[in-house]
Amino acid sequence: MIVRRKRTAILISGRGSNMSSLIAAARSPDFPAEIALVLSNRPDAPGLATAKSQGLATAAVDHKIYAGREAFEGSLQAMLDAHYIDFICLAGFMRLLTASFVERWRGRMINIHPAILPSYKGLHTHERALADGVKIHGCTVHFVVPEMDSGPIIAQSAVPVLDYDTPDTLGARVLAQEHIIYPLALELATSERVWIDGNRVVGAAKDGGERRLVVPEPD
Ligand code: GRF
Repeated sequence: MIVRRKRTAILISGRGSNMSSLIAAARSPDFPAEIALVLSNRPDAPGLATAKSQGLATAAVDHKIYAGREAFEGSLQAMLDAHYIDFICLAGFMRLLTASFVERWRGRMINIHPAILPSYKGLHTHERALADGVKIHGCTVHFVVPEMDSGPIIAQSAVPVLDYDTPDTLGARVLAQEHIIYPLALELATSERVWIDGNRVVGAAKDGGERRLVVPEPD
């Protein structure tokens, strides 16, 4: 049976390293999502140039030229419609989305956050983790719901916090894990092998290894 790959838009605001990991994974023809659009709210986002250089469709919807969030999201939605988008990955997209936009995409929009949710929602997660002296930190991919950095969790990965870590060294260790779990989560979410049950993502894992908490060796 041939199943149509989900036409996926990646929304970015900056460098787009997670975007690149998703693009690389989706190059495989049996990956259930294809990257049909990379869209940024910042026309100068470095990730846009990266995507363009790889021959992908790109677009900028500059939030600064709109009077408010609804108007901005109207253009965003029009762009998504024009590209027949089925699924959205937020990857360092630094705009809060309204509840009505989020509801429209409920179950079809995922986000990556650089912390083990529900700890450290919001910004400056690595600084805050170091200030609290936690020994484990990490990242989360989750379905997007109206409340910021909440929603059913698809995948998480943990890294150790080492004695002499700075926000940069810790952030780099977390980012390496982000690049692993985001493609894994996109694959799960678009292959329809997982279901949202309340606040939980559940699914029958073929080999028992698809939902996992990865704790790598210290580097
Ligand atoms: C990542 O740490 C992601 O978790 C957060 O913003 C950062 C984006 O980095 N939401 P990049 O643009 O993917 O390199």
